[in-house]
Amino acid sequence: MPISRKVTEQIGRASWIRKMFEEGQTLKARVGAENVFDFTLGNPILEPPEEFFEALEAAAADRTPGLHRYMTNAGFLEARQAVADRHSLESGLQYTPDLVVMTVGAAGAVNVTLKTILNPGEEVVLLAPYFAEYWFYVDNHGGVSRIVPTDDKFDIDLAALETAIHPGTRALVLNSPNNPTGRVYGHSSIEGLARLLDRKQHELGTTIYLITDEPYRAIVYDDVDVPVVSMYYRNTILCTSHSKDLGLPGERIGHIAVSPEAEDAATLIDGMAFAIRTLGFVNAPALMQRVVSQILDVTVDVEFYRGNRDLLYGELTALGFEMVKPEGAFYLFPRSLLEDDIAFVRALQQHRILTVPGSGFGTPGYFRISYAVERSILERSLPIWQKAARELGLEPPRPSLQR
Ligand SMILES: Cc1ncc(COP(=O)(O)O)c(C=O)c1O
Repeated sequence: MPISRKVTEQIGRASWIRKMFEEGQTLKARVGAENVFDFTLGNPILEPPEEFFEALEAAAADRTPGLHRYMTNAGFLEARQAVADRHSLESGLQYTPDLVVMTVGAAGAVNVTLKTILNPGEEVVLLAPYFAEYWFYVDNHGGVSRIVPTDDKFDIDLAALETAIHPGTRALVLNSPNNPTGRVYGHSSIEGLARLLDRKQHELGTTIYLITDEPYRAIVYDDVDVPVVSMYYRNTILCTSHSKDLGLPGERIGHIAVSPEAEDAATLIDGMAFAIRTLGFVNAPALMQRVVSQILDVTVDVEFYRGNRDLLYGELTALGFEMVKPEGAFYLFPRSLLEDDIAFVRALQQHRILTVPGSGFGTPGYFRISYAVERSILERSLPIWQKAARELGLEPPRPSLQR
């Protein structure tokens, strides 16, 4: 066996997202891509904004010596300064460049953070449904994931958390706007969570880090306000990227910002600078650090995603699908029409609609639809959804229930 037992086992339990995407590729090859409605991947469909290309051209034209060499592992000072200024403005806290590490996307940011803080066997709380890769990230660094469900609206369930946190709890990963539910945790949820974690830290005499993974922060609808977590909780480590807000997932650029109020923040950053190097990233891509730090206020056209959400949410709820209306990101997470969500996703596949089972996010009984797709694909898929729903036994809600 050329690959380790562990990797073999992990591939076996690996992401349903990839599995369904790859099956979809085979189906497309067989019946033609235009005949398959692929809602599996959260791959941003919008091209980066014009400001990105302008900043990229300016950065590429700069012949100042040293711009492409090794640098401080945490990243260019100018890039970290720009990021720190932005977080200071947002939070009212005093972020400095010393609290920022530029990273290889949000995935790199979360891995660097977990490598830095985890002792073997320590637990990391994941709120289900959760981004499936988190489980592997925790395992990468010798930690153990503790899955805690959210409530029936996918909001934080403080009572469930109360019993899940113990002396071996090192961190909790929060993801808002959420993949896969589209939920944005509101101020009272964050306040309640912060109070609970503060109390637990006090009772247990430990430090519990709140890792807030926010690559979808700018992808929100209807003026929903995304709370700034560091304003509520001291030991906050923010991880993010420009994969979604600037449409740059292939460029692998993001950052970590440690709260100025976090305990031992300087030691944490020293650990992160070491971890980014020994994980083999060394530092975040130099050119991209220089580019994104010029355009931190710019985003892709979120209205496009809102239009897709409104169209698909409206049509599917009219057919009788039940779901929480997403406030951000670009996913719907409806209830499965069959108890077995994997069987349901397979049944949709027969109609050439590709989605991902909720089991892949630690929440069976649901399925995820990524609406980061061309509008025309959504529109063409609507009659197919209708047909599939009818064949799978769904009755549209009666008018009196349709409010
Ligand atoms: C919740 C969440 N976190 C992290 C990532 C990884 O982001 P990046 O591509 O910036 O590493 C994703 C990507 O889909 C995500 O959905």
